[in-house]
Amino acid sequence: MSHSRSLYALRFFEHYGVPTVNPYDVVALCGDKVLASLRLEEAGVPTPRTVVALTPAAALKALDEIGYPAVLKPPVGSWGRLMAKVDDPEEAEQIIEHKSALGSPMHSIFYVQEYVEKPERDLRVFVVGDEIVAAMTRHSKDWRTNAARGAVSTGLRPTPEMAELAMRAAHAVGGGVLAVDLMESPDGLVVHEVNPTPEFRALTTATGVDVAGKIVDFVMEIARR
Ligand SMILES: Nc1ncnc2c1ncn2[C@@H]1O[C@H](COP(=O)(O)OP(=O)(O)O)[C@@H](O)[C@H]1O
Ligand SMILES: [Mg+2]
Repeated sequence: MSHSRSLYALRFFEHYGVPTVNPYDVVALCGDKVLASLRLEEAGVPTPRTVVALTPAAALKALDEIGYPAVLKPPVGSWGRLMAKVDDPEEAEQIIEHKSALGSPMHSIFYVQEYVEKPERDLRVFVVGDEIVAAMTRHSKDWRTNAARGAVSTGLRPTPEMAELAMRAAHAVGGGVLAVDLMESPDGLVVHEVNPTPEFRALTTATGVDVAGKIVDFVMEIARR
């Protein structure tokens, strides 16, 4: 289901007193990279340096401030779609011109982030309530290591640091069924995203963990509250 449909559906369930996993507030927050970054920062969770610009001119300034290479992301989106790694000011001007010409609200807000020099992978920790259910690495030659872009998933035993950070990030956004994505930056782990409606087929295959079963148990727990 599309993000906007699910958001409205969740809000109506809430209105009629039907409990949901996850609640509207958590999905709304995590589904918007601007709001999610602010919350992570407020909670003291290490996250890549990010500047949000509201005009094309401000976006160029933000890129100068962040430094090159940098990453431009649409505030709402997934699967690594429509993100750009920007290597220099010339490229920045061209991408910003394209985004502005597209005219959609999603491309008029510029989410500018430092490019994290990570190994050819990122880390995903799957959180259900207060439990770390499973974790994996997603390996790819593409700098965007989304499973949807063909990254190869491998199961991983999370280190205590990974587990602690993922749990902190999950709690910071309100908790629930959440996939916390981390990158290994030269200065340590950073959380770049908390996914509020995570897919789990790749994780199940890579780890053998019954992720669906864990989610069902949690849904039952919420239903009994
Ligand atoms: N700042 C960054 N530096 C380097 N790689 C990044 C950065 N941000 C994202 N990536 C890569 O791109 C992928 C997709 O980014 P993400 O912010 O999770 O967007 P989406 O919501 O589309 O998945 C990440 O899994 C990671 O591999
Ligand atoms: Mg992601």
